[in-house]
Amino acid sequence: MGTLVNKRILVGLTGGIAAYKSPELVRRLKQAGAQVRVVMTRGATEFITPLTLQAVSGHPVALELLDTEAEAAMGHIDLARWADAVVVAPASADFLSRLVQGRADELLSAVCLATAAPVAVAPAMNRQMWDNAATRANVATLRQRGVVILGPARGDQACGETGPGRMLEPAEIAGLAAGLFETGALDGLTVLLTAGPTWEALDPVRGLTNRSSGKMGYALAEAAAEAGARVRLVSGPTALPDPERVETVRVTSAEAMYQAVLARVRDAHIFIGVAAVADYRPAAVHARKLKKDRERLSLELVRNPDIISAVAGRRPRPFTVGFAAETEELEARAREKLLRKKLDLVIANPVGEAGTGFEADQNRVLIVDREGSTALARQPKTRLARTLIQIIAKSYHEKNTTENPGLAHR
Ligand code: PMT
Repeated sequence: MGTLVNKRILVGLTGGIAAYKSPELVRRLKQAGAQVRVVMTRGATEFITPLTLQAVSGHPVALELLDTEAEAAMGHIDLARWADAVVVAPASADFLSRLVQGRADELLSAVCLATAAPVAVAPAMNRQMWDNAATRANVATLRQRGVVILGPARGDQACGETGPGRMLEPAEIAGLAAGLFETGALDGLTVLLTAGPTWEALDPVRGLTNRSSGKMGYALAEAAAEAGARVRLVSGPTALPDPERVETVRVTSAEAMYQAVLARVRDAHIFIGVAAVADYRPAAVHARKLKKDRERLSLELVRNPDIISAVAGRRPRPFTVGFAAETEELEARAREKLLRKKLDLVIANPVGEAGTGFEADQNRVLIVDREGSTALARQPKTRLARTLIQIIAKSYHEKNTTENPGLAHR
């Protein structure tokens, strides 16, 4: 079962009596942990007021395509980019037809056209309208294009008739919305990841570490679980809670991370090294707090094990993905790591750039493999993680079929 925690859901309302149930849908989605924004068509506002939706969502409702104020804050492109998923409930027959045509002359259909996020619609209409050949053809086209059709249910209708065309209940729609993120791309596979920093103790209170927050690695672990994988995460010290549906092991030092990875790598089909592992540790760990009585203090450092190289050097080995945080020559340095560490993919992210890399909620990356590179623009780490998992899954499956049919990398 998927999760809606921290997912950004854009709820769209179109003109239909079932719009009176939409506030309950918004409430359910929020209760499940989602962040919700609402867009209403003019027709929807005839059935329920934007104020009601604003009160339950906690945000102003977007109504107009050409609204200078909205464009300055969150216009149609911003809304389209903001959404992790769009759920239109109720979706009228007219709206389904507009979606098929790719119309962009009002806000909600423009957002649906502009978004890369999954779109789901919960149709609500009279049974004859639902049964009409035009609606059936529209629904078939939308399905074919990847739009998820939620319902409709059968039963009594506002028009006094009985049959198919009732909008699903808000609780059902909220439950199904979580499934929008379940891609199945990693069904049956085990993914092992490292994330966060390591802490190399010098004495009981001091140590060497770095600024990794774990956000990128945890987002990837969650996205891999959503894609159907069994996920194991070996994490350095972070302030983040364990990701849902992920078996998380907490370690402190690079040596402990190395041991925890080696103990789990045998079952892994895919290994993703996101951790910022300290390359060196103090040669001696002092049992007592070091005194501050000297003017100069020299530290002797010794090399830590290279975890990802050890994983990539195994036979059989998992499909191995590394990360590279670079301040310059992003592609060249990532490619050097790809070849030196014998990796399948390297995901390079710039550091020292405001709003990306270490600690930030957003990131931009360059995916480097032996054939070339692909850039992914700056976006929330949670969304980036879902795209990266799709790309990793595709590369894994391609390599599995072309190089070593059946059991490649194992
Ligand atoms: O945690 P966040 O705040 O969200 O930040 C994410 C991040 C910037 C830390 C992450 O996206 C990232 O770039 N991680 C890799 C950091 C890095 O520069 O690693 P590296 O160049 O030192 O190592 C390259 C690869 O080898 C990495 O996959 C690393 O996990 C691995 N490695 C490195 C050293 C070592 N001893 N063992 C390893 O496995």
